[in-house]
Amino acid sequence: VTQPVGWGVIGTGAVAVDFARALATVPDARRVAVASRRPERAQRFAADHEFDGARDDVSTLLADPAVDVVYIASSTSLHHEHALAALAAGKAVICEKPFTASAGQAAEVVAAARAAGRFCMEGMWLRFNSVVVELKRQLDAGALGAVSTASISVGYAKSADTRGLPADGRGAMRTYGCYAFSLAVHLFGPVQSVSAVVRRDAAGVDTSAAVLLDHGSSTTTIDTSVSTQLGNRLEICAAQAVASIPRSVIDPQQLVVRRFPRNGRRQVLADAFAPLAARLPASKANARSGFRGEIAEAMHCVRGGLTESGVMPLDETLHVQRLMEEALSGRADIGDNPGAS
Ligand SMILES: NC(=O)c1ccc[n+]([C@@H]2O[C@H](COP(=O)([O-])OP(=O)(O)OC[C@H]3O[C@@H](n4cnc5c(N)ncnc54)[C@H](OP(=O)(O)O)[C@@H]3O)[C@@H](O)[C@H]2O)c1
Repeated sequence: VTQPVGWGVIGTGAVAVDFARALATVPDARRVAVASRRPERAQRFAADHEFDGARDDVSTLLADPAVDVVYIASSTSLHHEHALAALAAGKAVICEKPFTASAGQAAEVVAAARAAGRFCMEGMWLRFNSVVVELKRQLDAGALGAVSTASISVGYAKSADTRGLPADGRGAMRTYGCYAFSLAVHLFGPVQSVSAVVRRDAAGVDTSAAVLLDHGSSTTTIDTSVSTQLGNRLEICAAQAVASIPRSVIDPQQLVVRRFPRNGRRQVLADAFAPLAARLPASKANARSGFRGEIAEAMHCVRGGLTESGVMPLDETLHVQRLMEEALSGRADIGDNPGAS
């Protein structure tokens, strides 16, 4: 008989709701408790998603011996504090993206997890989405040929009052860019250099950025924004195919591959526009497959005594955090008003 794994959730926002819905579909995931600063909100969340209990502070949740894994869905600026507290309490941790609000904070959490010997993973559900799993499988098998270049856009227009201050980690780079950086590193390997043009609002929060990543043998360009609705697409140009996720790259439903003849001539076959989606379920359930995969991965690792995920390793979280910081501090920065002195 498999022992259930006990889950605690910190935060009751929209992402916590999506996660709780996915948790309810995973066998042997016991929904132990949810913590919120507002007792009535925690109670409502616990009732809605059938958790055993509601806690009105994080420390009470962390003191509960029935909680094995803590899912951190608090505001980004609190991830560092909540992850360190959970690890100090001996819990395994999944921490929502972006892992922390700075690369320095990420390094502290990773060091704490490694010192404690506890499982810790960034909650980058995109890596567990079935379309992304299939795309990575194709790339790793060489089915598309060598990748030359890729472009990813991730951006939605948000109201200015949701951006906070620079230290809150709610600018474009960390809110949406992190998905693109993580996807690029996952699919095309580590990055050797990064350059960027970043635009900021009056408070200094990055509202949009155009980024160029050099992977050595290929490049990725990234557009990200919290002030403009972008196309939210991925396109990969490889020797034998152009592959794309045509929309919603942070919640992919479809992978389209247009293959070229193997002799290298760029002749597009009339009938070669073959959406792989025919082989992939595109239901709403699939849209949340990323969360289910993330939860299954954490339970597999915790049960097997593993402290890191091979799909979302901590070194790649650190790599992405450092790249985002470098892009944000790049010499190529310009302000919103380039004409101003
Ligand atoms: N993977 C995804 O698809 C996805 C989607 C959206 C967001 N996210 C990430 O998930 C995180 C949460 O996003 P959000 O938009 O829901 O953020 P948010 O609205 O800023 O806050 C989320 C939760 O943080 C909790 N919180 C705030 N201050 C707290 C405190 N002092 N102590 C304990 N809890 C506190 C709040 O819970 P209470 O008010 O109940 O206390 C709130 O429900 C962010 O890091 C974001 O980047 C991920």
